[in-house]
Amino acid sequence: SDTPNGKLMMMHEEAAKLYHHVLLNTPAGAQALKYLKGRGMTDELINDFNLGFAPEQRILKPFLTQKVNDYQLLRKSGLFVENNDGNLRDRFVGRVMYPLRNQYGRVIGFSGRVIGKVPEGTPKYLNSPETPIFNKRRTLFNFNVARKEARQTSKIYLFEGFMDVISAYATGVKNGVASMGTSLTEEQVAVLGRAVNQVDICYDGDSAGQNAIDRAITLFRDHKPRGMQLRVVQLPAGVDPDEYVQQNGASQFNKYLVDQEETVVDFYLRFYRMNKNLNNQNELISYLEQSLKLLATLPSSLEQDMYLTKLAKEFELDKTTLKSQLAEISHRLG
Ligand code: CTP
Ligand code: MN
Ligand code: MN
Ligand code: MN
Ligand code: MN
Repeated sequence: SDTPNGKLMMMHEEAAKLYHHVLLNTPAGAQALKYLKGRGMTDELINDFNLGFAPEQRILKPFLTQKVNDYQLLRKSGLFVENNDGNLRDRFVGRVMYPLRNQYGRVIGFSGRVIGKVPEGTPKYLNSPETPIFNKRRTLFNFNVARKEARQTSKIYLFEGFMDVISAYATGVKNGVASMGTSLTEEQVAVLGRAVNQVDICYDGDSAGQNAIDRAITLFRDHKPRGMQLRVVQLPAGVDPDEYVQQNGASQFNKYLVDQEETVVDFYLRFYRMNKNLNNQNELISYLEQSLKLLATLPSSLEQDMYLTKLAKEFELDKTTLKSQLAEISHRLG
């Protein structure tokens, strides 16, 4: 359309087309294409996500200037950086380009990845800055696709990175999204809460991922709509969802998502064990107290009872004792 924001989106779409063309049809894109193919990206995936490449040679400015003769608009787009003399030059150079879309599928920004190994001091992914059309805190990669998919599945998988979303999509899991580089925001939680009644957090299987799950759960607890379900699928140690797919294939990934889906409580019962030696009696007691404190917050006594059974079995404890301890803690917490 002819509104300033419509023009900005049109410019982003033209840029995405150019980067996509460079990736697929020019010598300048050959190395990036090889990189993506090496990561298991097929032509179909490259097309579906309209992946591209911003070459070393700064080609976007001459290309867009032919179409848009409005310095202020070019400046505001975020596609350029401004020199001291006010001249604009391409922001993204030598990067694999991931178009970022709003919920209607319009391109509103980009994230660009370094090809291959990341040099010291260089950001692995470079994102567009905030602009009139790009609000980082609200944007989720692939949300425009995931929310449509979720009409069938009514749930969305929340991943860490773009490649996790794309590899999951390649296995048929098209209802995946990723937050934009930084950690999840309450705006993104609100966006998800309006779209689906279940979110499965599926972060990387490293300690950063595990701590990020804890933070995400806290954010959902405080900002999700009532009645929205939250689940966790934790990846095996040391791999992210993309790596899992590349190593184990589609059907094993699909099975993993189903088999390993756990409740938030089960996640914490595992999380609290990190860095604890449960063979040590003091540490076991402190683990059990921490766990009972969590169970005390559950609204359903049926649910409480199920977890008590689990704990009693696992540590060969008397369930009645655990139960009275839980009652005591509940009482203390009021
Ligand atoms: N991220 C970033 N800059 C970094 C590292 C991470 O912006 N230096 C963001 C990116 O959005 C990335 C997400 O955090 O997708 C998760 O980080 P990480 O797991 O390290 O990256 P991957 O998504 O696994 O990236 P890749 O597979 O391309 O190496
Ligand atoms: Mn194409
Ligand atoms: Mn990670
Ligand atoms: Mn990865
Ligand atoms: Mn990762």
